[in-house]
Amino acid sequence: MKHFLTTADYSRAELQAMLDDARALKAAPFGDALQGKTVALLFLNNSLRTRTSFDAGTRQLGGHAIVLSPSGGMWPLEFEDGVVMDGEAEEHVAEAAGVLSRYCDLIGVRAFPKFEDWQEDRQDRILNAFAKYATVPVINMETITHPCQEMAHIMALQEHFERRGKGGLDGRKFVLTWTYHPKPLNTAVANSGLMIAAKFGMDVTLLCPTEDYILDERYITRATKDAGAQGRALTIEHDIEKAYDGADVVYAKSWGALPYFGNWAPEKEIRDRYRHFIVDEEKMARTNNALVSHCLPMRRNVKMTDAVFDSDACIAYDEAENRLHVQKAIMKALIA
Ligand code: CP
Repeated sequence: MKHFLTTADYSRAELQAMLDDARALKAAPFGDALQGKTVALLFLNNSLRTRTSFDAGTRQLGGHAIVLSPSGGMWPLEFEDGVVMDGEAEEHVAEAAGVLSRYCDLIGVRAFPKFEDWQEDRQDRILNAFAKYATVPVINMETITHPCQEMAHIMALQEHFERRGKGGLDGRKFVLTWTYHPKPLNTAVANSGLMIAAKFGMDVTLLCPTEDYILDERYITRATKDAGAQGRALTIEHDIEKAYDGADVVYAKSWGALPYFGNWAPEKEIRDRYRHFIVDEEKMARTNNALVSHCLPMRRNVKMTDAVFDSDACIAYDEAENRLHVQKAIMKALIA
């Protein structure tokens, strides 16, 4: 039995097969691949796209989705092994995952970091606990990475480059740019953006204000290795103009600086100095007519100007739509 916890567990060819199926499902959305199947969707954090696209996608393939969340009456869960459960948690993940596996054929999990201690959060304990105790496949619906978003992003890039007669992704300059946000956000989409761009043969530039905003070495190492294996490279850049020059793809995301995890007051003082990292027309003019995207939700005119977001270069709606198609392909592959 295989889970879908991270794209690092899959080869480029395996991911491309799912992307090809997602294209077929986009052309013919309805089917019976999940007929009689039940999918549990566990949301420990808010969502618009993930919740709707998994629910709609399951139904379109003949299945049934059940959304579970603490605010929806679920018992508070304990995720540590061997603890004395005399706190708030009424149920251990071992029982929750084991019982859900008796009712359901797939389990999706969304569990963001607690934003207190990165060394703790980087262990992805909740997702890994479900993967350990479930006897059905588990899908990462965003924890410290966001693999479903990665797939939707790559699908949108492939579609748009093909549509523009520009061919494939190999050798493209992919820029992941940090942007300002008033709050410290999850690094998940940024970690994922690096990994998938490298895996699909692009030259990857990570643009961030200072060394403090460099992502966890686990993802830097993985992206460096995957890019290198295909004759490409990962470059870390703090100079905005150098990063944007000649870019084919600009992917915008904000995230909190890892050295300040849980100690956000001094990080905010640093972050507030870099509001000018916003994606705007002047920066985009330096690119090779780049495609630009964001995973959404996105604060307009903070992360990206209206002029850029509403331009033909922006493929964020297509990326969001593709969540539906890629997740159906992923569920089909896991059920098979
Ligand atoms: N991009 C994304 O995962 O959106 P939601 O948080 O709304 O699900």
